[in-house]
Amino acid sequence: MGEDLCFLNKGLLTIKIPKRSPLLMRTMVLLFAMACGVYMCSICLRQISTDSEIKIQDIQVIQMPSSRNCADISEHPFAHYPKPETFNRAECTCNPVRFFAILSMQRSGSGWFETLLNSHVNVSSNGEIFTPISRRDNASAVLRTLDTVYNLDLLTSASKNECAAAVGFKWMLNQGLMDYHEDISEYFNRRGVSVIFLFRRNLLRRLVSVLANSYDRYAKLLNGTHKSHVHTEEEAQALSNYKPIINSTSLVSDLQLMRISASKAVEYFNGTRYMIVYYEDLITNRTKLLDVQNFLFLPPTDLTSRQVKIHKGPLSEHVKNWDEVNKTLKGTPYESFLLADY
Ligand SMILES: *[C@@H]1O[C@H](CO)[C@@H](O)[C@H](O)[C@H]1NC(C)=O
Ligand SMILES: *[C@@H]1O[C@H](CO)[C@@H](O)[C@H](O)[C@H]1NC(C)=O
Ligand SMILES: *[C@@H]1O[C@H](CO)[C@@H](O)[C@H](O)[C@H]1NC(C)=O
Ligand SMILES: *[C@@H]1O[C@H](CO)[C@@H](O)[C@H](O)[C@H]1NC(C)=O
Ligand SMILES: *[C@@H]1O[C@H](CO)[C@@H](O)[C@H](O)[C@H]1NC(C)=O
Ligand SMILES: *[C@@H]1O[C@H](CO)[C@@H](O)[C@H](O)[C@H]1NC(C)=O
Ligand SMILES: *[C@@H]1O[C@H](CO)[C@@H](O)[C@H](O)[C@H]1NC(C)=O
Repeated sequence: MGEDLCFLNKGLLTIKIPKRSPLLMRTMVLLFAMACGVYMCSICLRQISTDSEIKIQDIQVIQMPSSRNCADISEHPFAHYPKPETFNRAECTCNPVRFFAILSMQRSGSGWFETLLNSHVNVSSNGEIFTPISRRDNASAVLRTLDTVYNLDLLTSASKNECAAAVGFKWMLNQGLMDYHEDISEYFNRRGVSVIFLFRRNLLRRLVSVLANSYDRYAKLLNGTHKSHVHTEEEAQALSNYKPIINSTSLVSDLQLMRISASKAVEYFNGTRYMIVYYEDLITNRTKLLDVQNFLFLPPTDLTSRQVKIHKGPLSEHVKNWDEVNKTLKGTPYESFLLADY
């Protein structure tokens, strides 16, 4: 092809160079050549620019499907730019949003942990959104609910709306999470949801809290209302006056089951981006909260909660059949639970 062109040019040149008005002809040839040059250049430029446009668009589509023009992907790992249907993100449209889920068990401090997170101006943690069974009837109901919350369209009292930088909720292991773990784990990976496991080291204390809380569900110790979390020392005192009896026959296997379900959950979701937080560590070491904020790419602030712990001090004061429990756990892997605070 190149050769043909050269040949053609040569032919044109040799054939067409006239002898009568050389100046006029030379000017015309020069002008023609210039026009051709400009035309070819403009075509080339147009092709180059459409090529690069396509490439940029491809990258954006792969990495952040909900956004076209909000900034640099490499600077914002796990960033999302949701476009809610229920409101406009206004001046924060291009602020990156991170998705998270707190995976925990009842009475492990997740209510307290969530109020701490929600004291951050940029965090919306929407509570136990999977309490209603209709949201977890089957895997597709679960995924639909997840889509709604991560599109910022699940409006709860915790919603920070347009300027949320991290959006999530808490999910108890027995609320469909373990049943549909394959679909959920795939979803978390596909959509870049970060997982925070919140567990309690002292499972005996958890058991006491579970028993007391389920007793209060019908006893309603606080002026006839059932409270799972309290905000004053008096309320905490009133609730902890009740001392549950622990079934010592099933105690060891009950504790074992709790431990197994926690490690199973970590195994099921070990392909996701996750961190494990222990309730006891949060209480004794506030820098753990900085780790959590870093994990969610949040600007760090001091997090606060008004909640007051219910069962304080030695566990022996909170269990009716303590001697029996003491005897039962002696020599088991759970013996240390008898002594530890928190
Ligand atoms: C899943 O559950 C939802 C909500 O209960 C229901 O409307 C839907 O028909 C169910 N889908 C399947 C495939 O079972
Ligand atoms: C956090 O929220 C504040 C106030 O709504 C807003 O000005 C700020 O841009 C948000 N920060 C991030 C990182 O989204
Ligand atoms: C219960 O009622 C008493 C007075 O009847 C009041 O002093 C107390 O603060 C109430 N407690 C709660 C938890 O509402
Ligand atoms: C204690 O646990 C055992 C074994 O699971 C069970 O058979 C028994 O009924 C339980 N006792 C009480 C009082 O719940
Ligand atoms: C994740 O769990 C699977 C079993 O479900 C196991 O085979 C695998 O080794 C685990 N991976 C990591 C990184 O722990
Ligand atoms: C507190 O937590 C931080 C961050 O996780 C850790 O580096 C530090 O060693 C902990 N301090 C104590 C006293 O455990
Ligand atoms: C458990 O019982 C032993 C005596 O059998 C006693 O020395 C010990 O202090 C008890 N532990 C607790 C935590 O109450």
